[in-house]
Amino acid sequence: MPADDRFPDDDALIARLPAGFRIGAATSAYQIEGAAAEDGRTASIWDTFSRVPGAVDNGDTGDTACDHYHRMPQDVALMADLGLDTYRFSVAWPRVQPGGRGPANPAGLAFYDRLVDELLGRGITPWLTLYHWDLPQELQDAGGWTARDTAHRFADYAALVHDRLGDRVAHWTTLNEPFCSAVLGHVEGVHAPGGRSLADGVAAVHHLHLAHGLAARRLRADARRPLDLAVTHLLGTSAPATDAPADREAARRADAFGFRFYLDPILRGRYPDDLIADLAAQGIEIPVREGDLAAISTPIDTLGVNYYRSMRSSGTDENGADVDARGLPVTRGLPHGGLPVTGLGWEVMPHDLTELLLRIARDYPGTPMVITESGAAYDDVPDADGYVDDRERTAYLSAHLAAVARAREAGADVRGYLAWSLLDNFEWAYGYAQRFGLVRVDYATQRRTPKRSARWLRDTAHRVRGRA
Ligand code: FCB
Repeated sequence: MPADDRFPDDDALIARLPAGFRIGAATSAYQIEGAAAEDGRTASIWDTFSRVPGAVDNGDTGDTACDHYHRMPQDVALMADLGLDTYRFSVAWPRVQPGGRGPANPAGLAFYDRLVDELLGRGITPWLTLYHWDLPQELQDAGGWTARDTAHRFADYAALVHDRLGDRVAHWTTLNEPFCSAVLGHVEGVHAPGGRSLADGVAAVHHLHLAHGLAARRLRADARRPLDLAVTHLLGTSAPATDAPADREAARRADAFGFRFYLDPILRGRYPDDLIADLAAQGIEIPVREGDLAAISTPIDTLGVNYYRSMRSSGTDENGADVDARGLPVTRGLPHGGLPVTGLGWEVMPHDLTELLLRIARDYPGTPMVITESGAAYDDVPDADGYVDDRERTAYLSAHLAAVARAREAGADVRGYLAWSLLDNFEWAYGYAQRFGLVRVDYATQRRTPKRSARWLRDTAHRVRGRA
């Protein structure tokens, strides 16, 4: 991709999107709200983890973040100025149900009540995610996602939020990226709660799926108004690094563990046989009980797809060995090489998004999709007024929206594109140094300044909507 401009055919593809195609932006509670100890909110696993020395770059925490909790009406006004038709946000569990059990905290729920009214008042569709990684610390102390009971606690919490907001919010996403909660949080140790055990990670995936399924049933049971029910997964492709059998086998394992582990139980009601065998070879069993998969495969209306990048899979390590110290086959993710990268070093591969969406359409037919996150961190340089001429991010968004349009034209049922993120924010283990926002946040003053990419998205949404 040219560094400073967009692909020439992007505009033509985007221009053919239907007027009803959803264009908006996303955020999450811990990354923007701040007010970590206000109005009864208790600690989440990210409040705890961000205080572990070395866990987050620069020792950053979400204590203040973008101070959105206090600036919400202005932020919603900004969204309206930017012409967003949809805003995806998450509810902080420890704000509305401190400690993760028991009755709702009225002050916490009232915040989201006001947010929803503010959005609706400005003609913006609220898209609510129930869980974007901020598990109440008390539930972590009781085992967190490795404990089956957490799934039941989540269903109670989901019902509590839905009771209050279900009359006005139609779009409900249960979970954001179970892969990150389970694998980054329990296997790789880089996200809260910082565990390093494959068995824990596998148990966490299953309990997250169960949490989704139990909550889906509870929300479906409340028929006050039609519900658009979704779950969001972080997805990519995992092509073999070469045609060698070891690499092809590694790609199969990566696809089983990183892709089908998430979509098969939800959309097919079972775990993949090859995944079960791969895990059994490591002495690990998915803790499934009778009836779980029926709950987990409760029909959804929309699959949320978060896409950032993909890796190639290699079946050998740096020294060419195809088994590790425990005698297990090597599965190693490698960059594709020769591609531009974002500020985080993530390869920019919009063509792969088209491929991914077509694969989902082919392998899981009949599932409408929405891109619930897509975006890039770059090393923004503001001018004296705080304006960022972020041509690279603009090009990134344009190329990815065009990639979605290309997939649609080839038959994938994709109904919207929500950019990550509305605001620069707390980027988890990278802290505030990595900026994904359409809008710059000066953290010292909390001043918001829309970047070039925000203006581009506004103009694009306007053009798409302008046609009948
Ligand atoms: C996704 C997360 C989101 C943000 C982006 C960059 O995995 O859902 O909160 O951190 O990555």
